Amino acid sequence: MHIIETVAEMQAFSREARKASKSIALVPTMGYLHEGHASLMREGRTRADILVASIFVNPTQFGPTEDFDAYPRDLERDTDVAAAAGVDMVFAPTAREMYPQGFQTYVNVEELTLPLCGASRPGHFRGVTTVVAKLFNIVMPHVALFGKKDFQQLAVIRRMVTDLNMDIDIVGMPIIRESDGLAMSSRNAYLTPEERKDALCLSAALRAARMLLGGGERSVAVLKEEVLRIIGEVPEAQIAYADFRDGDTLEAVETADGRTLLALAVKIGKTRLIDNCILGEEN
Ligand code: PAF
Repeated sequence: MHIIETVAEMQAFSREARKASKSIALVPTMGYLHEGHASLMREGRTRADILVASIFVNPTQFGPTEDFDAYPRDLERDTDVAAAAGVDMVFAPTAREMYPQGFQTYVNVEELTLPLCGASRPGHFRGVTTVVAKLFNIVMPHVALFGKKDFQQLAVIRRMVTDLNMDIDIVGMPIIRESDGLAMSSRNAYLTPEERKDALCLSAALRAARMLLGGGERSVAVLKEEVLRIIGEVPEAQIAYADFRDGDTLEAVETADGRTLLALAVKIGKTRLIDNCILGEEN
């Protein structure tokens, strides 16, 4: 496995690959890789001749008071994880390489970015779509893989790809959980052992809502009351949102069915965690 740090080298590599009729899969990441990322990479390996993973902690998707500086980084360990998952090439540029002096062009998906994380993290998705559009132009993949833990991100990227006629297949992959239900996240590294236990309230709330729906309850008011009760049992948990939305349009719903998305963002101490499920699906 090789590492490329410049845009020019990455584009030259991808241009050559395409000229040789090789297909390219891209797994964009911010590093500190875990089993969730590895599952995207293993799937990417099966979908193209060449598998590229990008590792870039993207400054434009962090708000001024967010954890950009503290975000965990470990390129050496990341390259081991990527190599074990079958990655051929890691693209790991610097911030200056991606955003040189004079940079001033952003990609913005409008309505889909208004609720949920878009409301609680202003500017976040503008940073995500901008960097993902850049990565697509730099790596020139035929297929790109994203995790469903960032459900809204996946929906926003699909919208961007459709709206801007990008010729790239977007694949959404299931959330990978620890054995006790906690969704894997690079930010789990921030949790103290006590907070790690408290963090289970997110997956417990999702499970409870799924079970209530399975038992025939369709009222979002009732489902939400139970979700809030479970998370409310943890004094350190502060809810940013606990929303029931249409799984395709992300519009708020009052009656739930198997296609309804339950999306959570909860701060445990200082750590903001997100999790979600489609109520009628396992996971
Ligand atoms: O999901 C992530 O890790 C990031 O938002 C992404 C897609 C790599 C863009 O920086």
